[in-house]
Amino acid sequence: MKDVYLNGHFLPADQAQVSVFDRGFLLGDGVYEVIPVYDGHCFELEAHLNRLQYSLDGVRMKNPMTPHQWQTMIAELVARNGGGDQSLYLQVTRGVAPRDHIFPIGVEPTAFAMSNPLQAVPEKYKQNGIKAITLADIRWANCNIKAITLLPNSLLKQQAQEAGAQEALLIRDGYLTEGAASNAYVVLDGTIYTSPKDEKVLPGITREVVIKLALENGIPLLEQAVTEQQLRQADEIWMSSSTKEVLPITELDHDAVGDGKPGPVWKQIDRLYQQYKKSIG
Ligand code: PDD
Repeated sequence: MKDVYLNGHFLPADQAQVSVFDRGFLLGDGVYEVIPVYDGHCFELEAHLNRLQYSLDGVRMKNPMTPHQWQTMIAELVARNGGGDQSLYLQVTRGVAPRDHIFPIGVEPTAFAMSNPLQAVPEKYKQNGIKAITLADIRWANCNIKAITLLPNSLLKQQAQEAGAQEALLIRDGYLTEGAASNAYVVLDGTIYTSPKDEKVLPGITREVVIKLALENGIPLLEQAVTEQQLRQADEIWMSSSTKEVLPITELDHDAVGDGKPGPVWKQIDRLYQQYKKSIG
């Protein structure tokens, strides 16, 4: 049984217990992070810990640990679980208190972390691309906060799966926002478009890396939302996340995207992304 971390202790996962009065359980009152670990090293750890702080600030919750304490705890958890490639999950909830919408006073947050083997991205997804469907973005108005309250995302992703697709691309007020569990990109006439960082999308860490690599390598990129109509005329569409990296979407609502194959701009970005991963190991 893998070890997990809970409130200052490492223990086997089947022995970790949280109260039924935890506000994460009763109210979904918590935030989280998912961090890829390659060969025992956390990818972009500082950026993930900064975003955790940003999410905590966004929901007015205290950070139970300093960045240094997080780093030390994470290093031990990753080592206890055998190093290699892992998917590390961090969660902070507002803690245990009698059920009430109002914040409790003087309650310590619950800090939890687990790490599981990182599922390799299926090679066929990179060779052929994945399928996506468009759905209305039914989420709340603070999608920039990485909240554990994922019921809308879960409903959307389930709908995509039942339609034979791997991701749902979300449309709000006629514009593409992001995926149900990923950031989205559209290539039009050689320029990459991705939604700007605002309350409609999660500020993805993979997205930051993609932007940096594009700009450093002279590939035109604009942080600008595209309309649903532009999405349907795209030469290429991609999604990105910490666990899926950058994947081409070659079928949208059962229609081929471009020529129906992963495009040249995606191939260039994927090559740069793989090089970057290796260079920081
Ligand atoms: N999700 N947008 C949404 C709604 C997401 O859920 C995710 C990632 C992203 C990409 O962010 P990043 O590049 O920092 O992983 C964008 C994670 C992987 C999850 O919930 O499991």
